[in-house]
Amino acid sequence: MEKILLILILALTLGRCPAAPSDIQNVTGSVGEDGQCLCTVILPDNTFPMHRMESLEITSHDLSISVQREITQIQSYQRSLEVYLERLSNLTLRVEKIELGVLSYTELDFELLKLEIKKMESLAVQLKASLNGSNTIIETLFTEIRNISVMVNQLESYDKNNVLAVRREITSLRKRLQDCEKNQTVPRPPPVQYGTCDHGGLINITKPFVVQLNWRGFSYKYGGWGKDSFVNTSKKDLFWVAALNTDARMMQLVRLSPSYEDLLLYKNPTDKTLSRLLYGNTYDYSSCGQGSGMILYNNSLYYNCYNSQNMCRMNLDTNEVQRQTLPDAVFNNRFSYAAVTYQDMDFAADENGLWALYSTEESAGNIVIAKLNESSFTVERTWITTQYKPGVTNAFMICGVLYATRPVNTRREEIFYMYDTNTGKEGKLSIMMDKMMETVQNLQYNANDHKISMYNDGYLVTYDAIFGPSQGSMLEASTGPPQ
Ligand SMILES: *[C@@H]1O[C@H](CO)[C@@H](O)[C@H](O)[C@H]1NC(C)=O
Ligand SMILES: *[C@@H]1O[C@H](CO)[C@@H](O)[C@H](O)[C@H]1NC(C)=O
Ligand SMILES: *[C@@H]1O[C@H](CO)[C@@H](O)[C@H](O)[C@H]1NC(C)=O
Ligand SMILES: *[C@@H]1O[C@H](CO)[C@@H](O)[C@H](O)[C@H]1NC(C)=O
Ligand SMILES: *[C@@H]1O[C@H](CO)[C@@H](O)[C@H](O)[C@H]1NC(C)=O
Ligand SMILES: *[C@@H]1O[C@H](CO)[C@@H](O)[C@H](O)[C@H]1NC(C)=O
Ligand SMILES: *[C@@H]1O[C@H](CO)[C@@H](O)[C@H](O)[C@H]1NC(C)=O
Ligand SMILES: *[C@@H]1O[C@H](CO)[C@@H](O)[C@H](O)[C@H]1NC(C)=O
Ligand SMILES: *[C@@H]1O[C@H](CO)[C@@H](O)[C@H](O)[C@H]1NC(C)=O
Repeated sequence: MEKILLILILALTLGRCPAAPSDIQNVTGSVGEDGQCLCTVILPDNTFPMHRMESLEITSHDLSISVQREITQIQSYQRSLEVYLERLSNLTLRVEKIELGVLSYTELDFELLKLEIKKMESLAVQLKASLNGSNTIIETLFTEIRNISVMVNQLESYDKNNVLAVRREITSLRKRLQDCEKNQTVPRPPPVQYGTCDHGGLINITKPFVVQLNWRGFSYKYGGWGKDSFVNTSKKDLFWVAALNTDARMMQLVRLSPSYEDLLLYKNPTDKTLSRLLYGNTYDYSSCGQGSGMILYNNSLYYNCYNSQNMCRMNLDTNEVQRQTLPDAVFNNRFSYAAVTYQDMDFAADENGLWALYSTEESAGNIVIAKLNESSFTVERTWITTQYKPGVTNAFMICGVLYATRPVNTRREEIFYMYDTNTGKEGKLSIMMDKMMETVQNLQYNANDHKISMYNDGYLVTYDAIFGPSQGSMLEASTGPPQ
């Protein structure tokens, strides 16, 4: 623009000039009468070059018009340039946002950006051509377009791992999955609700899963193990293992493992010793346990106090031991389970709370089920069954139903008897349980994971309980008389 204006000014100056310097003729000077200096200029005898003047004026006029036209054109270019600069800064902002992850990096955004940049580029080239020459605004425009192009190319290079392609693939997979789900006509069973009894009772048991040998070794064949059986326990990961002394009677040591991994690796254990040194070599064993009927419930270990008719419970946090008589219960190996000694009292827990399984002289050795009140540590209610306690190898409770086992052979156990405290009905059933070793020392059901843990001659074994659908009761076909 400046160039053109300069030409214009020059042209106008030439157009208004009366004569060129070459038109001035020879000049001679002389001194007059009054002493003044006289000069005579002799002009050549040709007329004023009017034709040249006119032609100059015409040229000037034409030039003026053309410059005016150029100026209007430039002004219009400038306006459109301003609009495009604004769009460009908008574009830059969006690209930056995408780079920072503020905007979602979707395919649509990306393609749109590339399209707009292409449009801008071709427009800039057009502008430059029509302006024919350098211009600061167009140079800035070009730099910015180059910059934004670089940014978009970088964005494109981020997609080296085919993020967009993978995204498309996932979308299509998701759609197919949804179709598949829609097509599925067979209703799937509802998710398992741990800690509730919304099912049709025990119908099967999985194959055993051997966790490990107890930490004291192969000779420690007697004991129990598991997790806290309280439904709302605050220590869902804690494992306990109680291996009796080799006398098959006294529980003196209990080991706690903070997690399953720790249990498996014998790591980070806490050992609780239940005997107390009185003086010299004399120990107090009264807080020790007797038999393998112990259970951990709401952070307290419940067990038969050593050599006594009492129930003991030890708070694992405080180590405080409380005792309470279990009324009429026999003890000291009067009616234990088949093949195991001193398990006169067997504690159990389920969705409904805490239970004690034992016998009395009055029940003639048949199993008595007692519902314990945890806060008062007393018996709330009892049920007397028709099943002789030494006739079963072990027992556990699920949703208020007692299940008892007997051996089929050295490798197999059968859950053959049940007693429902909810209805007072008992019944027969047959669920096979494979076992690794011959003797079942302890069986516990845990409502928190529906697992049954077995202390199998020193080995820690688990099974998963399988429940039937919730409609109806397993006991409808029961033959046993109500108590
Ligand atoms: C000017 O005039 C003088 C005398 O008339 C002459 O000598 C001289 O050459 C002239 N000069 C020019 C440039 O014409
Ligand atoms: C720039 O972006 C703002 C908001 O993001 C919008 O309101 C405005 O119209 C845009 N300008 C142009 C020229 O696209
Ligand atoms: C642009 O300028 C160059 C010389 O600088 C000239 O050769 C060319 O014809 C011009 N083009 C237009 C469209 O004015
Ligand atoms: C272009 O990018 C460079 C650095 O990448 C920056 O220094 C420059 O200011 C940018 N120019 C414009 C016009 O945005
Ligand atoms: C779903 O069912 C329809 C017809 O019932 C069938 O055309 C379609 O292929 C099925 N889709 C899948 C994913 O099985
Ligand atoms: C019970 O579970 C065992 C072990 O998974 C399996 O072999 C058996 O077929 C199941 N029995 C029934 C009646 O479902
Ligand atoms: C466990 O907690 C839930 C809700 O906190 C409560 O409804 C339920 O009765 C509790 N169960 C036991 C056995 O305390
Ligand atoms: C479980 O134990 C905690 C603390 O020892 C106690 O506050 C809570 O009442 C117990 N829960 C039940 C249901 O007894
Ligand atoms: C359990 O014992 C506590 C305290 O003695 C008592 O308040 C509560 O009613 C008892 N629960 C039942 C179900 O008997």
